[in-house]
Amino acid sequence: LRVQIKKKCQRKRPSCPAVLDHFDRQYGEELGELWTSARTALLDPRSWQYGVMLNRFNLMLTPHELHHYLQSKPSLQCYIHPLSLRFPSQAHRPGRLKQYYLINAASLLPVLALQVRDEDRVLDLCSAPGGKAVAIMQSATPAFLCCNEPDPHRREWLTKTLESFLPHCLSSRVTVSGQDGRLLGQTEAGFYDKVLVDAPCSNDRSWLYSSSIQQGAQRLKDREKLPLIQAQLLRSALSAVRPGGVVVYSTCTLSSYENWAVVEKILEDFPQKYALTLDSTRHHRLGLLVVPQNGKMWGPMFVSRIRRKE
Ligand SMILES: C[S@@+](CC[C@H](N)C(=O)[O-])C[C@H]1O[C@@H](n2cnc3c(N)ncnc32)[C@H](O)[C@@H]1O
Repeated sequence: LRVQIKKKCQRKRPSCPAVLDHFDRQYGEELGELWTSARTALLDPRSWQYGVMLNRFNLMLTPHELHHYLQSKPSLQCYIHPLSLRFPSQAHRPGRLKQYYLINAASLLPVLALQVRDEDRVLDLCSAPGGKAVAIMQSATPAFLCCNEPDPHRREWLTKTLESFLPHCLSSRVTVSGQDGRLLGQTEAGFYDKVLVDAPCSNDRSWLYSSSIQQGAQRLKDREKLPLIQAQLLRSALSAVRPGGVVVYSTCTLSSYENWAVVEKILEDFPQKYALTLDSTRHHRLGLLVVPQNGKMWGPMFVSRIRRKE
């Protein structure tokens, strides 16, 4: 990878006191000592994303060579810098593919858990800005990937991401839609082999750095509504997947209400229909939670993998 690595700006940004206080109370209770070290990691300016996912399509190949290349086994390649330096971001240039996507390494876990195979039909229910959609296309060549995002601005961002990372020859396999993901399960019942629900959540990292006290307070107020929306999205995903297919539910928050509690509720409602399939016994029956720690700055990330039985 021939890029110039800039020394990351290590200026300390002020955190939002109301959000930090709220997290201290909730996560202190839920995680105990683990929160003390996670808190230090999250407040460290070096803890921002410093991984890169390489774009396997950024090769100087003729269309013929590219066709052959796509027949070979795809691989998802992600690198982190040993010194936590941040790679420079690449500007969007129409018609030119980017070399890499800046990423927090834990963000690839939901995609790895999804285990997309060539020719799978895949739905990315909450898709913008498109990091996981790009990762799906790096790891396999699905028959069809539907990237769904109801927010028009974020959908534009998603479209640009896909343009920046995928060659034209794949455009027939990837579509962008703008529906409310809570309804897609009804309209496309049983159609997909794999569905990713990377749900809207309390994004702990960015909420800590809310741009104003008012924004932080509003986010905390809206927080209570999230578990209901998340459960509706997960239920919709489980309808959209075919019997035997797999749904991965993920968030980037430490909050138990948005993680274990959402999955638990759905499985309680339909115990005969769904089975958890992630080997999560060491962590939790319902999924695994990545908690950022000093020297291992990735996360927060929660991942649960559910197979529809019938
Ligand atoms: C955590 S972000 C997704 C990140 C994305 N998967 C990625 O890897 O780049 C959650 C997304 O869900 C979208 N969202 C919010 N409500 C939704 C709904 N009802 N249906 C589908 N998506 C929704 C948000 O606009 C947001 O873009």
